[in-house]
Parts: sequence; C-alpha cells; structure tokens
Amino acid sequence: MKLVLIGAGYVGLTTGTCFASLGCHVSCVDLSETRISDLQNGHVPIFEPGLADLIRQMAAAGRLNFSTDLRDAVSSADFVFIAVGTPSRPDGDIDLSQVDAAARDIAPYLAENAIVVIKSTVVAGTARAVCEIIKKTRKGKSVRVASNPEFLREGSAIADFLEADRVVVGADDHSTAVALRSLYRPLIDKGIPFISTSTTDAELIKYAANAFLALKIGFINDVANICENAGGDVSAVARGIGTDRRIGENFLQPGPGFGGSCFPKDTRAFAATGRRYKAPQGLIEQLISANDERKAMLAERILGVLEPRRCSRVAILGLAFKASTDDVRESAALSLIETLLKEGVEVGAHDPQARRKAQDLFGADVTWHEDPYSAVRGADAVAIMTEWEEYRDLDLTRLSDLMAGKHLFDFRNLLVAKDVTGHGLFYHSIGRPLLWPRTLNGTSGMAEARPALSGIAASVV
Ligand code: NAD
Ligand code: UGA
Repeated sequence: MKLVLIGAGYVGLTTGTCFASLGCHVSCVDLSETRISDLQNGHVPIFEPGLADLIRQMAAAGRLNFSTDLRDAVSSADFVFIAVGTPSRPDGDIDLSQVDAAARDIAPYLAENAIVVIKSTVVAGTARAVCEIIKKTRKGKSVRVASNPEFLREGSAIADFLEADRVVVGADDHSTAVALRSLYRPLIDKGIPFISTSTTDAELIKYAANAFLALKIGFINDVANICENAGGDVSAVARGIGTDRRIGENFLQPGPGFGGSCFPKDTRAFAATGRRYKAPQGLIEQLISANDERKAMLAERILGVLEPRRCSRVAILGLAFKASTDDVRESAALSLIETLLKEGVEVGAHDPQARRKAQDLFGADVTWHEDPYSAVRGADAVAIMTEWEEYRDLDLTRLSDLMAGKHLFDFRNLLVAKDVTGHGLFYHSIGRPLLWPRTLNGTSGMAEARPALSGIAASVV
C-alpha cells in the first residue's frame, strides 16, 4: 500500500512513520523545504519520544521518505492523508485554509482510485466540502474522501497510534469504508475497535472527544479551587471520584489550565460550530472562559507575593504545554510570562526541550537558562509550569539556597509538600491550601507572611 502524508508535523510524521512500521510505503510531503531537508538529513524537527529512532529505522528499511515534490508523491499513492494545521481564526472558528489549499494542490495528481483521507481535526461537513473542491479539478472523475480523525497525544504519540483505544473512520460510500478497514487491518487484528461512521459523524466525534476531555480538566480545576479555600486535597478528591468507573481516573489531574495545539483551539471551534448550527454549547463556552481566567488567576497569585515597589525576579520551570514534548502552543507558561513581563517582572526560564520554541516568541525579553538551578538563582519566586520528571527530583536545598525569596509555586503538584516547607519555603500548590515554611525548630514561619497572603487558607506542614 502506498501512502502520502500532506503535512509533516506532529500528526503527519507520527502517522506516516507508524503506517510505515505496519508495512506501508510512505512519503511525507511538506511545504517547508527546511523541514523536509532536515528530515532527509536525519534531523527530526520535533521532540516526540521514540519518533526519531522509528523514522531512522523506517527510512533505512526503504519504507519512509520525505519530499517537497507533491506531484511525484501523490500520483502513485493509494491513500493521500491531509494532516495540515487547522488553527483558530481570530473569532475562534476554525481556519480551514490549509486543508482547502492541500485539497487543491493534490487534486490534479490523484490516481484513479486514490482515497483522500482527512486526518486534520476539522468541523462537520469538511470532508464533503473537500470532495467538492477536488471534483472541480477532476471533472467527471470519481472522487473518494474519508474522514479519519486522530486521537494521539503529544509525548506518547507512537503508542497512542499503534495501541489506540479505537480507530474512527468516516466514509460516505461503502467501498471507501472497506478500503480504510483494510488499511487498518494490522491494528484491527490486534483487537483495536474500528468504528465506521459517516464523514460528518467522524468529524463530530473528534471534537466531542476533545471537548469532553477538556471538560473533565476544567471540572477538576474548579474542584481544586474549592479544595484550596476549604482546606481539602484535590488529589484525594480526584482519586475518590475517579475510581467510580462511570467517571474514570484519567484527565482529572488539576493544573495551570489546559494548553497545547488542540484543546484550546478545538473547544473554540466546537463552540463556534454549535453557534453555527443554532445548538449553543453552553458548557464549552463557559469552559473556554474559565480556562483563560484560570491562567490569569494563577499569574495574579504569583504577583500577590512580590513586593510591588521593587523589580522582582520570577523563575519559570517548564515552558512546554505538558511534559515529553517541545510544543509550546497555547502553553500556560507563555501567558504567565506575558503577564509577568507586562507587570515589569524580570523573568528567567528553563525547559529541557521547549526552550528554543519559547525563545522564538520572547527573544531577549526573557533570560534563558540551560539548567533549572541557574534559572532560580536570585529569584523571588519560582513557578513549576510543566510536569517534567527532572523537576520532581530538584535538589531543594540547592534551590532554596539559590533563591532570593521564599515562594515556590508548584502548578503541577510535583513535589512533596513537607519537603518544600522543610526547606524554609512557602509551598503554593494546586487544590491544597497554601503551606507555610517550617523553621528549624519545626514551627511555622508565619512571621514571614506578607499581607498579600491573607485571605487564603493556610496550614503548616
Ligand atoms: P503542525 O503544525 O505540527 O504540522 C502541520 C504541517 O503541515 C506543517 O509542517 C506545515 O508546513 C504543513 N503544511 C501546511 N499546509 C501544507 C500544504 N498545503 N502542503 C504540505 N504541507 C503543508 O500540526 P499538527 O500538530 O501535526 O496538527 C495537524 C492537524 O492534526 C491539526 O488539525 C490538529 O488539530 C490535528 N491533531 C493534532 C494532534 C497533536 O497532538 N498535535 C493530535 C490529533 C490531531
Ligand atoms: C489532546 C488529546 O488528549 C488527544 O487525544 C488529541 O488527539 C489531541 O489533544 C489533539 O486533538 O490534538 P494533547 O493536546 O497532546 O492531546 O495532550 P493532553 O495530554 O491531552 O493534554 C492537553 C492539556 O491538558 C495539557 O496542557 C495538559 O497539561 C492538560 N491536562 C491533561 C491537565 O491539565 N490535566 C489532565 O488530567 C490531563
């Protein structure tokens, strides 16, 4: 089977490489000549665990290549996957221009029975619209378009593809559905459910899935707010509700607000779809505002401990929107940095993988560090924004000695509370009351509290 992936980003590269590992012959095509020449030279332009190795293996086996020559790649392909970006427009609705352009680009070169498969996340009706775009070029010839939404997560993309919970394929004719089923046969044979629907249903499934997962996160973040003020512990509450199988334990980890290239833009697009079809998605509209407000609220929390009349320094540990990726799109760390800079705070930052991408956005406005300890040197407050394992193992004696101030904000609940307070630091975590530093004789260091801390439930650990 010959496949072409249009778009060699997180999804195109992972999907193409995984299909190659299942025995297909795959070409990944991208508009970016730099990206393609990097890939041809063995440099993988994104950080995704395991991907670089698998790409090398598949390229060496002769089943994976990279090209900017669309005509050559498309004309011999059985399946042409569109995996280009579908960003938000300024009004929140989806910008389908890359999908439409890709459809127009491939249309003249499609082989007689080729199937165009939309992998990008797109709103209901897009597959049918793409079919019309292609038909204009291929007057009179048959055109087959399927919708095959992708559910992988960055950071675990290969396993999410090869051991997916399900494969969803939307097709509006029987033979296209059968062809896609045969393409996915190796996964179906492993016991992975294959869900066959119309193209519109497949498109709606993708948005409904992301919206539901984002709602779970928004819900637990709201519960975390109550826990902080009521003296509860959100981890205990999440465990207590998540063990009910109707609720489930996944996606109940509170944090600084969801980010990434998908949940923020897909919830906005789903809400816009609801408005378009006169079926308002009130829950999702509220979730979007609450997630934005959360990011602003956490920034306020940090500003609240800084002395207003003096230039303060804050160290940000973690820039990626989650661990195990270098992706910073809509990361909570970015909006925090923007707010702090606006308030005249000096910002130093570290991330094991995402520094370069964040640096492209903020340049010299932020001081960039090679290791977390150099970032925290002289900082009045430190904020952990991404759940990288290396932050869990921070040497707190060293960190506390290097800091100028005493406030550690752990927005991923990575650290052990009593270890932090035992090192003379205030511990601000998510969904648990503020904890005061312990002095050497084991009592509370409350005398160090500033007025900005009043009004928040606090305990000594
Ligand atoms: P990305 O920005 O990483 O990659 C998109 C690539 O497409 C870019 O390299 C761009 O140069 C290329 N491109 C754009 N127009 C092109 C054209 N006409 N011809 C050739 N190349 C073109 O995007 P991504 O994160 O891989 O996401 C792609 C789609 O998949 C989006 O719709 C997204 O919502 C969806 N999705 C993403 C994820 C994820 O985890 N990133 C997961 C599931 C679904
Ligand atoms: C998400 C979905 O999980 C994938 O199924 C989907 O394919 C993808 O979007 C997409 O459509 O692009 P991804 O954005 O890679 O995947 O990462 P997630 O692990 O879902 O995390 C998204 C955001 O939610 C991150 O900021 C993460 O920190 C946050 N999150 C996640 C929480 O705050 N709590 C949780 O319990 C889980």
